[in-house]
Amino acid sequence: MRILILSRSSELYSTRSLYNAARRRGHFVRVIDHVLCDMYVSNGKLELYFNGQPVQGYDAVIPRIGHTVTQTGASVIRQLESMGVHTILEADALLNARNKLSCLQILSMNGIPVPASLYCNNQYFISELSDKIENFPKIIKLVSGTHGLGVLKADDQKTMESMMEAFLGVRQKILLQEFVKESKGSDVRAFVVDGEVVASMVRQAEEGEFRSNLHRGATATSAQLTDEENECALRAVEIMGLKVAGVDMLRSDRGPLVLEVNASPGLEGIETVTKVDVSKRIIQYIERSVKNK
Ligand SMILES: Nc1ncnc2c1ncn2[C@@H]1O[C@H](COP(=O)(O)OP(=O)(O)O)[C@@H](O)[C@H]1O
Ligand SMILES: [Mg+2]
Repeated sequence: MRILILSRSSELYSTRSLYNAARRRGHFVRVIDHVLCDMYVSNGKLELYFNGQPVQGYDAVIPRIGHTVTQTGASVIRQLESMGVHTILEADALLNARNKLSCLQILSMNGIPVPASLYCNNQYFISELSDKIENFPKIIKLVSGTHGLGVLKADDQKTMESMMEAFLGVRQKILLQEFVKESKGSDVRAFVVDGEVVASMVRQAEEGEFRSNLHRGATATSAQLTDEENECALRAVEIMGLKVAGVDMLRSDRGPLVLEVNASPGLEGIETVTKVDVSKRIIQYIERSVKNK
């Protein structure tokens, strides 16, 4: 097969891991930077260019799209979709997953349990509407944040209002969310490939920290999921229209709550912690889908 990887750099762990896995299985692989791509669109004719040369003749594409370039990444994926290239991540699915509000909306309307959340657009109604999220502390988070940056905890009404006003004042979209204290600074990451949880880990935040992102110094260990968590993760990924995704769940008193579904999940943490060759599983999935096409 001829596989294209969209990535800002071939030096990034996930890119390298996927590249090596594909090469080991005998495929031709090329990495191009989606941010540097040019796109031609005319009546029913869509073309993609990199370094002035047409990008064509690929069977499949593996998009590795960072948070700062989601729109550009989605446009390049859409261009490739129109050219009949099999993508492991569709443009619309990426856009839905990247936005924490649309992700929660889609999950919730399809019966997936999520923490109670309020998208509050107007600072004049904060004090009224924020009561919909019961008890303190409450979580405030950026709709498009990542790596735990822009996720804060407010312990009382005054702090919450001033934090929310500050974000809204600089035109940042935010969610107010119930704080799931039973999770005690930990969450579960289930890595799903083609309808199967291939690896999973529990991440525990540093002492004095509630955010369990590895980028915030959390430690991770391989984890066994309950049947309920397994089922929840698989359904969440399917509902979001994804094939390869990392589902983050909080272990709450009322069962797993899905925090977010990562459409371009990092491989370094999960492969290092669980010793599962996740990249190989992704390449094998691509082989199956291209063959069945
Ligand atoms: N409602 C919540 N209750 C308890 N902990 C939370 C809540 N929301 C987020 N966290 C913690 O903060 C981390 C980062 O939040 P998340 O919504 O996943 O944002 P990001 O996209 O930046 O990772 C989570 O992994 C979790 O440990
Ligand atoms: Mg997260």
